[in-house]
Amino acid sequence: MDAQFDDLIRSALKVRLQAYAPYSKFAVGAAVQCKSGALFAGSNIENISYGLTICAERIAIGSAVAAGEREFVAIAVVADTIDPIVPCGACRQFLAEFCPDLVIVSATVGGNRKIDKLSRLLPDPKRGILKNVHTP
Ligand code: THU
Repeated sequence: MDAQFDDLIRSALKVRLQAYAPYSKFAVGAAVQCKSGALFAGSNIENISYGLTICAERIAIGSAVAAGEREFVAIAVVADTIDPIVPCGACRQFLAEFCPDLVIVSATVGGNRKIDKLSRLLPDPKRGILKNVHTP
């Protein structure tokens, strides 16, 4: 992979150190690159009521949206794994809300990298939702 996403991965690596993951001990960092050029980062935040946990990707996107961003180019996700991880199903849907063909840059702390497209990981994210409603 070229050096195009180096800054984004660096940013995800750095924010990963802020992960609040006392239950899984699995720290994840994410950084999103906006069309404007701005970068926003986020790490996972767990909760004692496990289902309330928020993934790093959603924290990063939330931070960007709160700053007025709506258009994204790529998101980097970093964890300390052998193979790079990709966003979970819930995050794929969340990401697709803003950018169905987002570039997903997955990296490990050790330096492995993989690139994918959200449109491949989650095709047809909005199909049927809020459409074709039966009216009485
Ligand atoms: N996690 C993320 O933050 N992003 C992912 O892409 C995969 C999973 C978090 C959620 C939870 O805190 C921990 O990793 C274990 O699933």
